[in-house]
Amino acid sequence: MVICRRVGAALVATTVTLSLGAAPAPASATGHGHDHGHGGVGTPGTPGAPGVGDGYFPAAGNGGYDVLHYGLDIRYEPATRAFAGTATISARATARLSRFNLDLRGFDVRAVTVDGRAARYDRDGQELRISPRHALSRGERFTVVVRYDGTTGRPTDVEGALYGWVSTPDGSFVANEPDGASTWYPVNDHPTDKASYDFRLTVPAGKTAVANGELVGQRTRDGWTTFVWRARDPMASYLSTASVGDYDLRRSTGPRGLPIIDAIDRDLGPEAADGLARTREMIAYFTDLFGRYPFTSYGAIVDDDEDAGYALETQTRPMYSGPPGEGTVAHELAHQWYGNSVSPARWQEIWLNEGFASYAEWLWEEHTGGRTAQARFDTFYARPETASFWNPPPGDPGATNLFAGSVYTKGAMTLHALRTKIGDRAFFALLRAWYAANRNDTVTTADFVRLAEQVSRRQLDAFFQTWLYTPGKPAVW
Ligand code: ARG
Ligand code: ZN
Repeated sequence: MVICRRVGAALVATTVTLSLGAAPAPASATGHGHDHGHGGVGTPGTPGAPGVGDGYFPAAGNGGYDVLHYGLDIRYEPATRAFAGTATISARATARLSRFNLDLRGFDVRAVTVDGRAARYDRDGQELRISPRHALSRGERFTVVVRYDGTTGRPTDVEGALYGWVSTPDGSFVANEPDGASTWYPVNDHPTDKASYDFRLTVPAGKTAVANGELVGQRTRDGWTTFVWRARDPMASYLSTASVGDYDLRRSTGPRGLPIIDAIDRDLGPEAADGLARTREMIAYFTDLFGRYPFTSYGAIVDDDEDAGYALETQTRPMYSGPPGEGTVAHELAHQWYGNSVSPARWQEIWLNEGFASYAEWLWEEHTGGRTAQARFDTFYARPETASFWNPPPGDPGATNLFAGSVYTKGAMTLHALRTKIGDRAFFALLRAWYAANRNDTVTTADFVRLAEQVSRRQLDAFFQTWLYTPGKPAVW
């Protein structure tokens, strides 16, 4: 097997950063108010790192532990934006810890316990630092409960787009990519730490709260309705949602009895769901192409909020700020395989999400008698060097260009160019093998290059260097 040196080296670097776990104790931390490591057996342990080492979002996620499950109990009143939450987080320490962090922005934290005992905590920007009474041993399982409340706002990401818990006139539009989960719950906010989720969402009677997975309970009492949603499959925090609005829930079934739960805003006209009409067929088509559908259910959330102005592939239940077209629906569905099940190990790898989902959109259009993927490639390729989508390079777009046109378009073109280079047989085998080998996991481009070389038995360094890492319009590849 041929390993691309440059990309291979980048992988080594990533692995080192991402496996940092607990940071070496900085000298200053020892004298810090909360760190005494009192009680406990053996050494006091060291503080967990305040980030996982993502080059684009250094504060995202934390080191020293691995979350297994989030239980989120939230009460939200859209009229006043009053929000009260209790997060119950089960985790396992991956290092001996005197202290660890969660990411949380805004809110007043009222109480924190670790394994049922009050724990000291303080806050520093988006870091909630928690010191359990005794150091946690490496490998130990523990449960953190954080009680917090406040009033929600309309947060924006590094590019200025609304994201996270976005308060809307009728509820909330909750779309966290890339690091917005911390705007509504304490979290290890990085895709490298997937977990299962339970949501108990309490909203004024008449409102509907929609999260990931399946609705397992609903009851109204004293003018409030609690919706209980369960998402059993491992999920990255950027894919979690708890959207509140004037939704009608519509149930149907997909291929092989897959439960489909759509939430459609009642204020939209009957054509709001038109773009979803072929969802079942799309699931069948992508299952044939990529492998079995990754999760326990599916569905869409169609809001009437045009402010955010985008869609997100929230796991099992993509969000659309308004009625989506069929292409967008295909795009968000394809993300369930590429992005949600097979996730980026760092945000630099965003083209592995967007290039794949965009290319899937092309494949769906060709499959349904529209333009061929080749025709779409040719149309884009005919555009001059000055066209915006040639830059920045999709393999390293920078934190403020995660959703640049090049990540989508040049990313999809990269896959089409690869297809023509290695042939349909190898290309579609590669798409399947990529999913099969990395389900519920995280990946880098170096992993993809390596697999592409294995499957095709070709040397592809120069090819990927040209398409993913070189600015401008490729001339030869
Ligand atoms: N991943 C989404 C999609 O391709 C786009 C999310 C945009 N998010 C943002 N914060 N600007 O459908
Ligand atoms: Zn996308």
